[in-house]
Amino acid sequence: MAKYPPEPFKIKMVETIKLLDRKERINKIREAKYNLFNLKAEDIYIDLLTDSGTSAMSDNQWAGIMRGDESYAGSRSYQHFEDSIKDIFGFKFVIPTHQGRAAEALLFSKILKPGDYVPSNIHFDTTEGNIRNNGGIPVNCVIDEGLDPSTNYPFKGNIDLNKLQQLVDEVGIEKIPIAMITITNNSGGGQPVSLENIIEVSKFWKKYNVPLFIDACRYAENSYFIKQREKIYHNWSIKEIAKKIFSYADGATMSAKKDALVNIGGFVTLNDDELAKKITSNLIITEGFRTYGGLSGRDLEAVAIGLQEGLNEDYLKYRIEQTAYLGESLLEQGIPIVQPPGGHAIYLDARNILPDIPQEHFPAQALAVALYIEGGIRGVEIGGLMFAYKDEKTGDMVYPKLELVRLAIPRRVYTRAHLDYVVGIARKVMEKRESLKGYRITYQPRLLRHFTVELEEI
Ligand code: F0G
Repeated sequence: MAKYPPEPFKIKMVETIKLLDRKERINKIREAKYNLFNLKAEDIYIDLLTDSGTSAMSDNQWAGIMRGDESYAGSRSYQHFEDSIKDIFGFKFVIPTHQGRAAEALLFSKILKPGDYVPSNIHFDTTEGNIRNNGGIPVNCVIDEGLDPSTNYPFKGNIDLNKLQQLVDEVGIEKIPIAMITITNNSGGGQPVSLENIIEVSKFWKKYNVPLFIDACRYAENSYFIKQREKIYHNWSIKEIAKKIFSYADGATMSAKKDALVNIGGFVTLNDDELAKKITSNLIITEGFRTYGGLSGRDLEAVAIGLQEGLNEDYLKYRIEQTAYLGESLLEQGIPIVQPPGGHAIYLDARNILPDIPQEHFPAQALAVALYIEGGIRGVEIGGLMFAYKDEKTGDMVYPKLELVRLAIPRRVYTRAHLDYVVGIARKVMEKRESLKGYRITYQPRLLRHFTVELEEI
């Protein structure tokens, strides 16, 4: 039996949720054109769409909200924000943004030229979108194990150095102005990257003088996995591990909506003076002055506190074990997931669950819709709908290797009984899987289509 960790907190405030009846759910998802982003949150019972911006804040964070200094320039809350980030990340400049993708947009707009390549393990969708939007080409170089849902490997987020070398040889180093690593590797199952790999990748890019940036959304969860799985770090504190990670990079972007336990916020942090100046000028035009960057003083305060709370080992132990509990409970019911369980989410292997729905009919979306209809649960498709693209040369659609439904767990929000309910519903969907049908697109935009796509059942 999977083990559930006792929560290292008690609950001080609650929010009511309710389950619509089945007929209502069927109507709601039809009206939403089978796109779960179009549902109203009040029509969902257990919302596992994302772990981003959905955390429950602590009493300390709420107290910080009251203390927020709303001065336009030089606010005390910015100082706290900057100090907290420098304490962990150790870079010279800290540039606040309203969330992670704004940090990406600012960075790529100042570093990419059309036709440039940006390698990573696997880029997240907004990162890909921002690279393409600046004329760049995202390249995913995760190890092969990271693309196979069934292999059990401790660091499936690692980068394959041979793939990096291949890219350099193919396109030329002058076409690679920046390299990245995403920790944990969200689009590949929330899998961690080892410190050993981070060090090797850092050395690789240093040799070519290419700056390495870390997409640090879930760096604390990644650090906890390093402590658990990389022997030499067993006795290190999580903060020491985090500091070591960033010491091998030239900068980082972060959506604070994840491991900083807040509902909004982000930043870019880096050492390069010139680049920091360019980004700051752009920030002032698009986001806000350099000491608030699109956030209120109270938001900056909540990030400053949340970042440090997110490194607490009791919290991280609970967090990672809670996610593992959901994963192991699903496996006990014979439901295939990406193994081993990731940090922030469990990923159902839709290709394996629905082998008869071809990829162009979006099996992972079919599974996500079925979970809503069966039990009011919202997950998110991470497969062909999110990542397929048209090859400019051949005109063919290129589909990703993985077809997954991500069940992301908001931090400090759901209890064991909620997760047991999710497992029960997933099991019912498994039993009915032969009756599920695929979907076809009736509307789609040019970039990031999954957010606004409209579908019909086939
Ligand atoms: N990078 C990664 C790895 C992410 O997971 C996200 C967001 C971002 C960048 C962008 O940050 O949302 O603050 O603009 N991921 C959320 C998710 C949306 O559901 O996984 P943002």
